Amino acid sequence: MGIASKILGHPRVYDTVQALLCLGLQFDETYAWLEAHTEDVVVDVGCGNGHALEYIRDFSSYHGFDVDERATAALKNKFPGRRIDVSPEALTAAHMMALRPNKAIAMSLLHHLDDTEVAGLLDVLASSGTVRRIITLDTVYLSGKPINNVVAFADRGRHTRTREAYLALLEDSPFRVIEEDLSNTRTRNTLLYYYSMCLAPRSV
Ligand SMILES: C[S@@+](CC[C@H](N)C(=O)[O-])C[C@H]1O[C@@H](n2cnc3c(N)ncnc32)[C@H](O)[C@@H]1O
Repeated sequence: MGIASKILGHPRVYDTVQALLCLGLQFDETYAWLEAHTEDVVVDVGCGNGHALEYIRDFSSYHGFDVDERATAALKNKFPGRRIDVSPEALTAAHMMALRPNKAIAMSLLHHLDDTEVAGLLDVLASSGTVRRIITLDTVYLSGKPINNVVAFADRGRHTRTREAYLALLEDSPFRVIEEDLSNTRTRNTLLYYYSMCLAPRSV
């Protein structure tokens, strides 16, 4: 891990940068797509230090996975009173078979993964046959938006894509797009954009 990644990946630095860059962005519409209910078993892949837990409250169990141990440690400290389970590792098919989640969060993750890694992640998420919804949100390259594109290029995630390239990731996947949005209709931030999707199983 490079020095910039080490600094930007520090939970406090991450929270501050995210708050500044996302000024005016509303994530609640993307989280609403999850339709989280009290009976849901939720996996949060690339959970970081728990941004999702500021938006979703209703679940039967929450299981966060992140390859950065600093992030999972920070998440546990941030929400001491909540019944959550966090693992400092990548999500595997074995986890899926054991947990049998019906909802999945992959917020701000796809632009950290190359196409092969995204395909692998979607196969893992499909492996239990139980996931009904997945939400994603990522940096995006847009024509005519140079400031957005420079900031997206400077992101720690090395795989920011255009909207079309994100959609192409789903072409041969077990999941299809049921909702998508560029940024958020209620944003007041006109410089930076995020692309979000809600996925559902192709077979349902
Ligand atoms: C930009 S952060 C997003 C954190 C959180 N989801 C949010 O919305 O604030 C991306 C996270 O994904 C984690 N990550 C990257 N690749 C991963 C993988 N293959 N499996 C699990 N976590 C991963 C990184 O360690 C990092 O904490």
